[in-house]
Amino acid sequence: MKNQLPTKRETILTGDRATGPLHLGHYVGSLKQRVSLQDKHDQTILVADMQGLTDNANNPSKVSSNILNVVADYLAVGIEPTKTTICLQSQLPALAELTMYYSNLVTIARLERNPTVKSEIKSKGFERSVPAGFLTYPISQAADITAFNATLIPVGDDQLPMLEQTNEIVRKVNSLAGKPVLNECKPLLSQTSRLPSTDGKNKMSKTMGNTINLGACEKELRAAVRSMYTDQNHLRVEDPGQVEGNIVFTYLDTFHPDIEYVRQLKEHYQRGGLGDGVTKKILEECLQELLKPIRERREQYLDDKSQLIDILRTGSEISRHKTNTTLHSVKDIFGLNPFF
Ligand code: TRP
Repeated sequence: MKNQLPTKRETILTGDRATGPLHLGHYVGSLKQRVSLQDKHDQTILVADMQGLTDNANNPSKVSSNILNVVADYLAVGIEPTKTTICLQSQLPALAELTMYYSNLVTIARLERNPTVKSEIKSKGFERSVPAGFLTYPISQAADITAFNATLIPVGDDQLPMLEQTNEIVRKVNSLAGKPVLNECKPLLSQTSRLPSTDGKNKMSKTMGNTINLGACEKELRAAVRSMYTDQNHLRVEDPGQVEGNIVFTYLDTFHPDIEYVRQLKEHYQRGGLGDGVTKKILEECLQELLKPIRERREQYLDDKSQLIDILRTGSEISRHKTNTTLHSVKDIFGLNPFF
């Protein structure tokens, strides 16, 4: 499903688990959209380090070591801290407190029914014993969204169940209050279809080595393009080739600026006479051109971490005020502001 960019000014919250540097899938699926949304909307990006821990508590450095990488990725693609507030989840105590209050409004059975959580429990091997923090992360995500009073959440379709659970919580809280205190939120689905992994088989994942990170160096990028899945039956250059399911063409469709040129390449490939080496070379050049300035800006930011920390600290301070205000209203509903 595709939808248009919103026209009226919205309060937008997006976020990423800080469990690895961001890749081309993030770039086309969400980062580009965030760059265009920041001019007309009140946008906050949450670096979700607490949520990252819900399935990485045994290896916390996977989260902590990636916080600044993710911030550098944001800035490198053009997210501007003067337009978008970038904040760190663990530095906003209101989010953890709201999670506690909301967890009284959600049953374990409801959490176990959440389709995304259900499939993640399987894929992460948590079937026999799932960490309570993991099972309840939809509640913490509801805390994130409502704490900012966000009305619009740009997400991939895997996140729709989180928004559904958020709105259930919102309705319960509002009905307890007897008046609308929290806003329901709407999803803003990505304008582009999900970018396939370079092997064309699996979901993009850093451990599978089938992604292209925004910070990939020239050599890594070349190797990744060379290893891309094409048409397995296209054995000789003269053979007609198939473009459907040929990842090189999917990437050319997504990234090459000249649509007509890509159309001609496809025709040539289908006719026969165009080798995979050539199509890969064309794709590599196009991606090298895209990633070069991003990589350079990213490196500059990572060279001076104090600047990144300042950006995150300032964004977190602004966000602390906002989220504390929501916490205060929710505590009011439960009659838990005895001193003021
Ligand atoms: N669950 C999101 C992801 O895995 C990250 C996230 C955490 C988020 N809190 C959020 C996204 C609030 C949107 C709004 O990508």
